[in-house]
This record gives sequence, structure tokens and C-alpha cells, in this order.
Amino acid sequence: MSSKNPYLAKKAPVELDKFEAKTRGYRFATKKLLEGIQKVEGKIIDLGSGTANSTLEISSKYRGSDNQVTAVEQGKEAHNLALMKFGLSTIDFSNIEDEKLTGFFLEFRKEAMPLNDRVKFHLRNVQDVDDFFEGKAGLVVGNHLWHWLVKQGVEDKALLAVKTVLNGDGILAINTSSHLMMPVKYDIKDTSIFHHPLMRRFFESLQRKAKERAGLDIPMVEHPEPIFERENLIKKFEAAGFELVEYDEYLISVGHDPETGEDNFREGALMLSNYHMKYHAKNRALYDLGLNDAEMDAIVETARTETLENIGNDLEHQGHIYDVNPKFVFKKRKY
Ligand SMILES: C[S@@+](CC[C@H](N)C(=O)[O-])C[C@H]1O[C@@H](n2cnc3c(N)ncnc32)[C@H](O)[C@@H]1O
Repeated sequence: MSSKNPYLAKKAPVELDKFEAKTRGYRFATKKLLEGIQKVEGKIIDLGSGTANSTLEISSKYRGSDNQVTAVEQGKEAHNLALMKFGLSTIDFSNIEDEKLTGFFLEFRKEAMPLNDRVKFHLRNVQDVDDFFEGKAGLVVGNHLWHWLVKQGVEDKALLAVKTVLNGDGILAINTSSHLMMPVKYDIKDTSIFHHPLMRRFFESLQRKAKERAGLDIPMVEHPEPIFERENLIKKFEAAGFELVEYDEYLISVGHDPETGEDNFREGALMLSNYHMKYHAKNRALYDLGLNDAEMDAIVETARTETLENIGNDLEHQGHIYDVNPKFVFKKRKY
């Protein structure tokens, strides 16, 4: 299997951070991933560090004198944004019109700057980490990364490289999303964004609009087939010289602020409409049907408008979950 990394697109990292500014989702996912790992001996590597949301969580949690953090990212735009957020390059806000995003960057910078002498950013491929990382690491983290390695067909090379850079007791902590691996503790019908009542209503509207505007019959969008399976992943890692020390799953709710613990379902509905409806409509329903971008956008927009017009104050989606994050913590086997 091989597929292009969508985060390499020029605008993708800013979109990722617009989402982060609203949800703190990547930061929260990193925090939950590392919950059971209180102390680390030695250096830490953040693989697929993107725009450094995971890097900030890692460098602020582990502040031991030897816990230097190496962040590895293959996307140039994401790498540059990460440097900016850590105060390692100048800020240029001239083309950022989103106030929430600007505020988020400023707040981020305040927290990250005091840590920036302990973090090194590398514009490199994860699977080549053994070529440039110096010394040995006590912890390697991949927050929302592993599925991309699987899709790019570089998982085996990455596993070998991680094994090479980890020290004898080293830990590898990774997670993914229930869009990509079926959770085992939760029923997908209760948790998946694709079964969210508001998203359901949107997909039905999308079917109607595709018919009216383009004469197309599109199937109902369903929860996607997972790209990997829990047991196979564990077997693969065991064969590569790791043993599983922790498996868990945690929930990320729509409209739930992980920082304050507060629920704001209206904010959740807006998040769904601003981000997920657009993204999943195009990626899961409209691509490959021969429509151009403008036609796709028009169908998505009319369906979105119809869905939002009808929600009014109706918060029927309360209690539904946005995503389940399965997490795996492995230890390098000594023999
Ligand atoms: C979903 S983002 C998560 C970013 C970051 N870990 C966070 O939590 O904010 C995944 C990142 O992995 C990067 N990535 C994917 N495959 C990669 C590879 N083979 N080498 C380096 N980076 C990669 C992507 O460019 C993207 O920035």
C-alpha cells in the first residue's frame, strides 16, 4: 500500500492548526497517550511532529535534564510553522486572518519559548531517523502518525529505525484513530463521527443535493474500513522485537473541551460543520465522480446550509463521541 501524505500540501498545516486552535485535540491525544509514562531516562523523539502540538506536550511534560526532544517531520510547511511556534523563527502574521488562530499561536509561543533550547526540529522522514539521530532514546512517540506510515508502505523500515535508536529499556508509544482501526472497547455505532446524528443528517442532505444539482446517486457515507487491525499490529511489532506493555482506548467528544472538562455542544456542531462535513463529503463521497472543485464545493455548501438551518437549538447530538483513539505502548525487548 502506498499513498501520498496529505499534510505535505501547502495549506494543510495551517488547517491542522485551525482545528487545533478550536479543539486542542492533538495535544489532548498526546497527553492521554503518555499518561502512564511518568518519567523517562534519556532523550525523546517525537515522530511525525507536524506543527509541534505533540512536541509541546512532550517537552513540557518531561523536563529532566537529559530529556532533550528531537522532532521529526517530512512536511516543509509544517516544519516551518513548528519553528515559528517554538520561537525559533520570526512570526509573520500578515497573511493570517483568523483571530482565534493568531491568539492560539501567541499563547503557544509563550509556553513553548522557554522550552526551545531543549527541542531540535528535523525536516526528515520518520523511517530514516536512525540516519541522523545521535545517541540513544528512552522514549519514541508517534501521535496520530502510524497510519500514515502504513499507508506510505514505510512501516517496516520505520520500526527497524525506531528499534535502532531506542535504548535497552526504551519505550515506543503510538496511537491512531477509530477511523483507521476498529476500537475493541467501544461500539463504533455509539462513538463514530460517521454515526453522529448531525453528520447522518448532513450525509442524507448530501445525497439529495448531489441528485438535484448533478444527477448523481451517491451511496450513504459509512464508517470507513479500518486500514489495520489491532492483533496484526501487535504481532508485527512483536516480530520486530517489541513487547506490548499497555493497550488502551480513549474518547474525544465533539464539543468537549479537554482542558476545562466543559461540554459545549453548539461549538461541537460548528466544528462538525466547518471541518468534518466538508472533509468527509469530499473525501468519502464526491471524489472520483468527475466533478470539478467548484461543483463539489457547491454541493457540499448547500447540504451544509440545509443541515445547519434545521438544527436551530436542537442539540440532539449530545452524548455522541467524535473519535476513539486506540493507543499502544511497547517496550523494546532486551533479547
Ligand atoms: C496527524 S499529523 C500529527 C502531527 C503531530 N504529531 C501532532 O500531534 O500535532 C501527522 C504528521 O505526520 C507527518 N508524517 C507522515 N508521514 C511521515 C513520514 N514518513 N515522515 C515524517 N513525517 C511524516 C505528516 O506530515 C503530519 O505532519
